[in-house]
Amino acid sequence: MKVAYTVQEVREQVKEWRKEGLTVGLVPTMGYLHEGHASLMKKAVEENDRVVVSVFVNPTQFAPTEDLESYPRDLEKDCALCESIGVSLVFHPEPEEMYAPDFCTWVDMDVLSKTLCGKSRPIHFRGVCTVVSKLFHIVTPDKAYFGQKDAQQLAIIRRMVRDLNMDIEIVGCPIVREEDGLAKSSRNTYLNEEERKAALILSKSIFLGQKMVEEGETDAAKVKAAMVANIETEPLAKIDYVEIVDGMSMQPIETIKTPILAAMAVYIGKTRLIDNFIL
Ligand code: PAF
Repeated sequence: MKVAYTVQEVREQVKEWRKEGLTVGLVPTMGYLHEGHASLMKKAVEENDRVVVSVFVNPTQFAPTEDLESYPRDLEKDCALCESIGVSLVFHPEPEEMYAPDFCTWVDMDVLSKTLCGKSRPIHFRGVCTVVSKLFHIVTPDKAYFGQKDAQQLAIIRRMVRDLNMDIEIVGCPIVREEDGLAKSSRNTYLNEEERKAALILSKSIFLGQKMVEEGETDAAKVKAAMVANIETEPLAKIDYVEIVDGMSMQPIETIKTPILAAMAVYIGKTRLIDNFIL
């Protein structure tokens, strides 16, 4: 497995693979890889001749008040995991390699990026769309893999690929959870012991809402109210949002008809965690 630090190195490698007629999969990540990322990488390795994993903590998707500096990083461990799964190339650029000092071209999206996480993180999806577009241009993958845990991000990337005629298949992969239900996230490492226990309220409320819908409840307000009430039983939890939206447009709905996304962002102490279910 190779590690590339520059755009040129990646381009040269992909050119070689293309000459040999090989297919290429891309797994974009911000590193500090866990089993959720591993599931994406395994699927990518199964479905492509060569797999590129990008490890890049993208500054443009963090607001100045957010955790860009403290976001956990461990390239050595990440590379070991990638290699054990059969990844061919890790792309780990410095921010200067990705963004020229006078960078001023953005890929942005309306509608889908204005609800849910987009409300409390107004520049986030512009940063995500921009960096993912750049990675798509650099790697030119046949397929790219994203986790369902970031369900709004996945919907936005699918829409961006459709709207901008990008010739890439987007593959969404299910949420991977800890044994007790907590969705795997690099940010779980911020939690102390007490917060780690409290964080279970997210998955418990997700399972509660999902059960109500599966048992036939179609009133979105009722499902949302039950999920909110459940989260409010946990003193360390502070709700950012709990919403039930149309699974394609990300707009709030009143009556539950598939496809839907029920999503939440909840602070446990200072750590903002997300979780969701889709139907
Ligand atoms: O989901 C993430 O880790 C990031 O948002 C992504 C897609 C790698 C873009 O920086």
